[in-house]
Amino acid sequence: METQESFIIEGLAGERKLTGEIKVGGAKNAVLKTLAGSVLFADEVSLERVPGIEDVSRMCEALEDLGAKIEKGETGKYKIKTDGINSSVITPAIAKKMRSSIVLTGPLIARFGSVSFPFPGGCVIGKRPIDIFLDAFKKMGAEVKEEDNNFTVTASGGKLHGAEIFLRLPSVTATETLMMAGVLATGTTVLKNVALEPEIASLGEFLNSCGAKIEGLGTPVITIEGGELLSGSEKTYLTPPDRIEAGSFVIMAALTAKDLKISDCDPSQMDALLESLISAGVNMEIGKDYVRVFDNENKTFSPVEIKTHEYPGFVTDLQAPMSIFLTQATGQSYIFETIYENRLNYLETISRFGARVRVLDSHRALIDGPEVLSGKEVESPDLRAGLAYVIAGLIASGQTIVHNVYYIDRGYEKLDERLRAIGAKIKRAPREA
Ligand code: EPZ
Repeated sequence: METQESFIIEGLAGERKLTGEIKVGGAKNAVLKTLAGSVLFADEVSLERVPGIEDVSRMCEALEDLGAKIEKGETGKYKIKTDGINSSVITPAIAKKMRSSIVLTGPLIARFGSVSFPFPGGCVIGKRPIDIFLDAFKKMGAEVKEEDNNFTVTASGGKLHGAEIFLRLPSVTATETLMMAGVLATGTTVLKNVALEPEIASLGEFLNSCGAKIEGLGTPVITIEGGELLSGSEKTYLTPPDRIEAGSFVIMAALTAKDLKISDCDPSQMDALLESLISAGVNMEIGKDYVRVFDNENKTFSPVEIKTHEYPGFVTDLQAPMSIFLTQATGQSYIFETIYENRLNYLETISRFGARVRVLDSHRALIDGPEVLSGKEVESPDLRAGLAYVIAGLIASGQTIVHNVYYIDRGYEKLDERLRAIGAKIKRAPREA
């Protein structure tokens, strides 16, 4: 239920004094796809380290609405049975709220021969078209019908066949959706120019351990031999750590911490971010499964150039949180957002905090620092900009109120509780009328 809630933050006014440890949860952009992938299984699928975030609840609701049975155990253990699925009409209400519901289309068409769903909708960060999905389904023998923004995709003869597909863009969810469609299609599917995000290999390796035949994971070409329904018995999907959540916390620590350990993460998936922060002068210790940020209390940070890029480049989802760091660097920093056409809109709000921002066009901006930020009342427009506003509120002087906390709860579990545990003054409250 989307209650209107807000975070109320008392800023540190530039003091870097948070201390302790913050544990990183399971990756949202991995587990959502494995949940969708449960449709490919004849029997029960077990998952562990599932984060308690809103998007997981929405994906579970979408699956249950289709007829799946989900058992949610304690501490992130889920069991899913999809043999009871009796529909392949994705609930419009959920599909419009969560873009990643589109990933369900691949497994549903592959198993049931058709799927109906609404255009998942663009959002503040961009139009986010689905042409790559639709063109690929056609190449796999499906017919696509659209009627006032609702799509029905039907595989001729009730079964997709393999195809050789070049992705116009290395789309993350298109790669995952088509990889899963190929698992049950007849024959061989070759996907070229696929995305290389680590969550894709995590999904593909799990599917392979349950009987799928996917080759080339982690390379630009993935080949899938179509086969029978998968079997999850005795296998458990251990959700990998969320590299975006971990990166968000490292950026926050550089600006607010005396000594903070970001643990249960995988720094080897965070090179672009960590290299940028180190080049700016941030002191940190990088372990196998943690990043410790310390001795930065009186550090002067240097400006950096941030150009977002598909993995392993600088991840677009950390562009907004990183911009707060850039407001505190001494000199002029440059942001080039190459993935989305509207992912700089939040900068207008960042300048309301007092930052010196110059937006050059819809993809590029300059930030001059350092600038003391002052607390503001703001509305989260999306998940990552919302997190950026929380970081801005933590370093600002005075009080910040961040509304639409639902967006932040979509991808960060119990954020306010975890930040209070390391000394931040943040509380969750119903939105004042
Ligand atoms: C995934 O979205 C992530 N979401 C996004 O994270 C992330 O920003 C994005 O990948 C890029 O890394 C999930 O995994 C659930 P894309 P996705 O398809 O797959 C264009 C977050 O904050 N495109 O890789 O939807 C698209 O418009 C979210 O966790 C087409 O043109 O992104 C974009 O410009 C936000 N046609 C570019 O490709 C298509 O058919 C890359 O988008 C599909 C995509």
